[in-house]
Amino acid sequence: MGVTTVTDVRPTSGAEDGVLRTLFRSDQGGHEQVVLCQDAESGLKAVIALHSTALGPALGGTRFHPYESDEDAVRDALNLSRGMSYKNALAGLDHGGGKAVIIGDPDLIKSEQLLLAYGRFVASLGGRYVTACDVGTYVQDMDVVARTNRWTTGRSPEQGGAGDSSVLTAFGVFQGMRAAARTQWGAPTLRGRRVGVAGVGKVGHHLVEHLVQDGAEVVITDVRAAAVERILARHPRVTAVADAAALVRTPLDVYAPCALGGALDDETVAVLTASVVCGAANNQLAHPGVEKDLADRGVLYAPDYVVNAGGVIQVADELLGFDFDRAKAKATKIYDTTLAIFDRARTDGIPPAVAADRLAEQRMAEARDRAAREAVSTVPTPAR
Ligand SMILES: NC(=O)c1ccc[n+]([C@@H]2O[C@H](COP(=O)([O-])OP(=O)(O)OC[C@H]3O[C@@H](n4cnc5c(N)ncnc54)[C@H](O)[C@@H]3O)[C@@H](O)[C@H]2O)c1
Repeated sequence: MGVTTVTDVRPTSGAEDGVLRTLFRSDQGGHEQVVLCQDAESGLKAVIALHSTALGPALGGTRFHPYESDEDAVRDALNLSRGMSYKNALAGLDHGGGKAVIIGDPDLIKSEQLLLAYGRFVASLGGRYVTACDVGTYVQDMDVVARTNRWTTGRSPEQGGAGDSSVLTAFGVFQGMRAAARTQWGAPTLRGRRVGVAGVGKVGHHLVEHLVQDGAEVVITDVRAAAVERILARHPRVTAVADAAALVRTPLDVYAPCALGGALDDETVAVLTASVVCGAANNQLAHPGVEKDLADRGVLYAPDYVVNAGGVIQVADELLGFDFDRAKAKATKIYDTTLAIFDRARTDGIPPAVAADRLAEQRMAEARDRAAREAVSTVPTPAR
C-alpha cells in the first residue's frame, strides 16, 4: 500500500496528464489535498479528495462506482468533495468538505480485504478526513472500514453508529419545506397544500409521513410499484401517478424530487405547476442557469444541499457518540437556514441557490480568517 499526496504538485510544462489537468483547473475550486490510493493485493484503487478543512476535518461519504476512467473518478471526487464543503458549512457543522471514490464495480470487487485496505488509507490521513456511506457503500461496509481507523461514520447502531441516515434527511427536507411555505404563503405549514413526491424510497417515504401528519394532500410516484403500494396501503388518501413527467404536470403547490439528480431540467421547469421545489435528491439542477429560470417563473427553489443535510448532520454526530435527539435538534435548524437563504436571495436579488453558495463561502472565509489571526497571535515574539 502506498500513499501519493498530490497537494503541492504543480503542473510542469508538458504535463499533459489529464488527471493533473482536472486537479489544477481553477474552476474546480482549489482543493487542499487529493490522495491517490492503491492496494494491489485487494485490488483497491481509490481517490480521497479534501476540498477544504477550513471549518474542521473534511467530512463526506465513500462512493463505490465503476468509473469509465481514472480521470472520471478524480473529477467526481473533486466535484463531490467541493459540494460537501458547502453542505457542511450550511449545516452548521465544524467540518470541511471531503469525499472518497473507490474505482470499480462493487458487485465484482468489494471485499473485506479491500474495505480494510481503504480504511488504512483513511487512517493515514490522521483525522483530516472523516468518511461515511455513499452510493455503492452501506452501513455494513462502514463497520468493516471502521476496524482500521477512528474516523469512519455511517456505522450500524451495534457498532456505535447512527444507522440509516434517511430518517433525519427526510426530517430536514420537511423543515426546509416548512420554511419555503412560510416564505411563499406566510405560514410554516403544508396543511392544505398539494405536495408531489417523486421517489418514495428511504427518504421519500419518511417525507410522506411528515407531510400526511402536517395535513398536506400528497401525490406520489416511483418506478418501483412495491414502493408506491407500501405508501398507498398505509395512507389511503395519498394518490399515485404513473411517473415523474405526469407528476410535475398535475396541479401541485410543492414538488419534492426524492429520486435521482437532474430532476429540474428545461423541460420540467417549463411545465412545472408547483410554486415551491424542495426535495432530498442531490444535484437537482440539471445545468447552471436552471436556478434563474425557476426564479424567473416565480418558483421558490430550496437548494438541495441545504435541505438534505439531515443525513450528514446525523453521521457527524457519531463522532461525539451518537445521540439521536441532539442530531435531530441540529437538523431542526435547517428551517432557519433555509429562511435565511430565502431572505438573502430577496435582499440581493439573486436565486436562492446562489444565495446559499454565498452564505457557505462566507462561513468558510470567516473560519479561514479566524484561523489566520489565531496563527499570527500564537507566533512567539522573538527575544530582544
Ligand atoms: N438517504 C439519505 O440520507 C440521503 C441524504 C442526502 C441526499 N439523499 C438523496 O436523496 C435521494 C433519495 O435517496 P434515498 O436514500 O431515498 O434513495 P432510495 O434509493 O432509497 O430511493 C430512491 C427512490 O426513487 C425511485 N426512483 C428512481 N428513479 C425514479 C424515477 N425516474 N422516477 C420516480 N422514482 C424513481 C427508486 O425506485 C427509489 O424508490 C437521492 O438522490 C440521494 O442521493 C439521500
